[in-house]
Amino acid sequence: MPARRLLAALLATGVVLVPLAWLWQASLLPATYAVTDMGIPDDGRGSTGHAGHGVHAGGRSVETLTGPVGEPADVDVELVVREGPAGYTLNGTSPGPVIRAELGQLVQVRLVNESVADGTTLHWHGVDVPNAEDGVAGVTQDAVPVGGSHTYRFRVNRAGTFWYHSHQVSHEQVRRGLLGALVVTPPGGVGTRDELALVHLYDGTRTVNGRGGETHVDAVDGERVRVRVINTDNAPMSAWVPGSPVRVVAVDGTDVHEPGELRDVAVEITGGARADLEVVAPARVELGGAAVLVGERVPAPAPRPVAELDLLTYGTPAPLGVDPAAASRSFRYVIGRSPGFLDGVPGMWWTINGHTYPDVPMFTVAEGDVVRMRLENRSGDGHPMHLHGHHAVVLSRDGVPATGSPWWVDTLQVGDGETYEIAFVADNPGVWTDHCHNLPHAVEGLLAHLMYEGVSTPYRVGGPNTPE
Ligand code: C2O
Ligand code: CU
Repeated sequence: MPARRLLAALLATGVVLVPLAWLWQASLLPATYAVTDMGIPDDGRGSTGHAGHGVHAGGRSVETLTGPVGEPADVDVELVVREGPAGYTLNGTSPGPVIRAELGQLVQVRLVNESVADGTTLHWHGVDVPNAEDGVAGVTQDAVPVGGSHTYRFRVNRAGTFWYHSHQVSHEQVRRGLLGALVVTPPGGVGTRDELALVHLYDGTRTVNGRGGETHVDAVDGERVRVRVINTDNAPMSAWVPGSPVRVVAVDGTDVHEPGELRDVAVEITGGARADLEVVAPARVELGGAAVLVGERVPAPAPRPVAELDLLTYGTPAPLGVDPAAASRSFRYVIGRSPGFLDGVPGMWWTINGHTYPDVPMFTVAEGDVVRMRLENRSGDGHPMHLHGHHAVVLSRDGVPATGSPWWVDTLQVGDGETYEIAFVADNPGVWTDHCHNLPHAVEGLLAHLMYEGVSTPYRVGGPNTPE
């Protein structure tokens, strides 16, 4: 090859390789880092900063944002977590024990890691706990190593259906059973029979409260029964009640205002979300491969109805308690997908506002702000978006305003091509994860944070802490 052609070939190769090498190099994450030092600061007022120039938060440490100290707990639980060949157990079972509390009670849970080699934590999904109790490894605590323990304390200020799960290597630990239910009732109960249906796939088998097939619940004919359905899996699931009426009385731990009676309608419950279904015995609650049979001589199974409940119009309006028109911050969370490098690994990665993790927005607020967020999904796939520490109310979908009951969520399915406007009050200072609850997607970069001005974290992602 003549020297000129060789030179030209080398130059051409360089033109391709040098930028690729630069992109690769620029994508590498430090061995350990504070999430608050990453991301593109976004103050929700039109000014965004540059990646890598963290919001230098002084002031309060996450460590100080604990639940009540020095008060006796009303509910006191110890959970001993073990790792075995079949998965994880808590006090010997998976799902772990159901934790029950009444509204306003102080819950204390001592997590003991007996043998989870990667370390573990507990996150209280849907409970707006103080930040230090949130259980996110590398953000609000260090992962608890084998032989270690960690105590969580929080007051439950919302009656409803919640769950707990590991937030350390969560895509792995949750799938393999490191989870359980948390039920908060009003004092004196909900006024009907109260049952739980925690749904989880163990090795591809759909189970309810850990058992496959049909689960029986005692009830006399005509008795009303609340079935609290928790979807602990990554994918959305459907629930339906063939041959008898159903009401969706609560969503994500918040009662629906004046829920109407439904017939032959499927209720979608996305990954991480909950729906409380009120049925009248005898009734059959189909859960897509498993079922809850309420009472005797229940109706026959039937395929999933085509019609799907739309919470945008379900129930009747009631005061929101927050004025979205008075929002002091407004954010966009645009989900896309593009080829690139994530920590040096080439692939098709999720993007947020056009960038790959960690160059994603760091949403910044101050305590007391009313916050609007516009979730836009242009990624080719649906995503159950979960903001920690807050409940948000849905304002609109694709520009169509919500006209039913106030629709409060902690986990919202945003379908491909959809745009949701939500609002919440920044009333819980801390550093909060805001991610897709299809947990492998969070590993693939569909993860951002909301931080309060003046709050910093001493914890580091990396090393022993792998939250996703
Ligand atoms: Cu259910 Cu970030 O978690
Ligand atoms: Cu996702």
